[in-house]
Amino acid sequence: IDAAGRRVFDLRVRTGRREFVPGRPSATWGIDGDYLGPTLRARRGERVLVNVTNQVGETTTLHWHGMHLPPEMDGGPYQPIRPGATWSPTWTIDQPAASLWYHPHPHGRTARHLYRGLAGMFLVDDAPVPGLPHRYGVDDVPLIVQDRRLVDGRLDPDEPMSGTTGFLGDQLLVNGVLGPYLEVTTTRVRLRLLNGSNARVFNFTFADGRAFAQIASDGGLLRAPHTTRQVQLAPGERAEIVVTVAPGERAVLRSVAPATGAGFVQRDGGSDRFDVLELRAAARLAPSPGLPARLADVPAIPARTAVRTRTFELAEHQINGRKMDPGRIDAHVLRDTTEIWDVRSGDGTLHSFHVHDVQFQVLSVDDRRPPPHLAGWKDTVLLPPGTRMRLIMRFDDYADPHRPYMFHCHMLYHEDQGMMGQFVVL
Ligand code: C2O
Ligand code: CU
Ligand code: CU
Repeated sequence: IDAAGRRVFDLRVRTGRREFVPGRPSATWGIDGDYLGPTLRARRGERVLVNVTNQVGETTTLHWHGMHLPPEMDGGPYQPIRPGATWSPTWTIDQPAASLWYHPHPHGRTARHLYRGLAGMFLVDDAPVPGLPHRYGVDDVPLIVQDRRLVDGRLDPDEPMSGTTGFLGDQLLVNGVLGPYLEVTTTRVRLRLLNGSNARVFNFTFADGRAFAQIASDGGLLRAPHTTRQVQLAPGERAEIVVTVAPGERAVLRSVAPATGAGFVQRDGGSDRFDVLELRAAARLAPSPGLPARLADVPAIPARTAVRTRTFELAEHQINGRKMDPGRIDAHVLRDTTEIWDVRSGDGTLHSFHVHDVQFQVLSVDDRRPPPHLAGWKDTVLLPPGTRMRLIMRFDDYADPHRPYMFHCHMLYHEDQGMMGQFVVL
């Protein structure tokens, strides 16, 4: 905390060396470390200051994915950090508790920079909810899940292309670790899942088919725990789950082939089934409280409050037939208004639609009410081929006619190819 009362984080983006396989060092990038970065954490209402120093010898940026903040603090393509420079965004945390994350966003090079290892979690805290596991690293554990390709035990530095959605790896890293396990000492454990992959959709489930509770989506807690056996996440999406274990047991969190609709198969010849994490329960477990029946207020944004509807079709590396153009603003939205964004995948492949600055709500999926796991705050949604979603969002503040926010596909190959647009709040 500095003299002005701000919570200060100093981050160094640097090159690293990491042995994913012992004796086989890979050249990586990391934030304050060799691969990935520290979990940042701040409370709602707090003012934060992040000093990001670039030591990788190449211009990059650091974007706060899911964060509501002024456009000049966003860390998108307009906030480049040149080699040797320090960028110091500051803003007030003004949103409900959530598992957000940060990653680079240099135009045309996001896939490469993220692939090398630049990403981390940013947890927003709010008033504690009694009954929810909350001891970081004990019964509350973030999991950054990424597919990668290791050649001879080393990270393939080229981020090879495969398939129409971009890079698909054949091995999983969880928090930068191959084949991880977690020692569990309590009867319930909360896992904050982030799909930090470039293109792969994960469909998380337990090997024994056990049910668990999904408690949060991208932008915060759901209204109530949602009991389920699977949770599917596109690149950029998050979900928090709470799973119950028995003393001494081993439970394997796994990802299976995604249900992507329209017969679309996302694979590159390899398997699309991965063991993600083994939970190893201790012989004696400390009892966790039961989950509360209610988690949070998520006031529905009424569709009738929207002042306009915009349509976005994602197809062929473009949005509405246009590639990202820094010289063009695609949408001028008015401050203090609500809009409906009607988005669809128009080209028979998968997309992952993401909007900066706001958390939205899903009004409908193909004209049907959204399923329970899409009923909370979202900033990224999987768009299977042919699917249409109506998203409703409010633009509350941070009007600035000269500084755009981005919206784009979070399949990073698509994004880098130009499947991105810009909006300003007036
Ligand atoms: Cu996760 Cu525009 O980014
Ligand atoms: Cu973002
Ligand atoms: Cu896409």
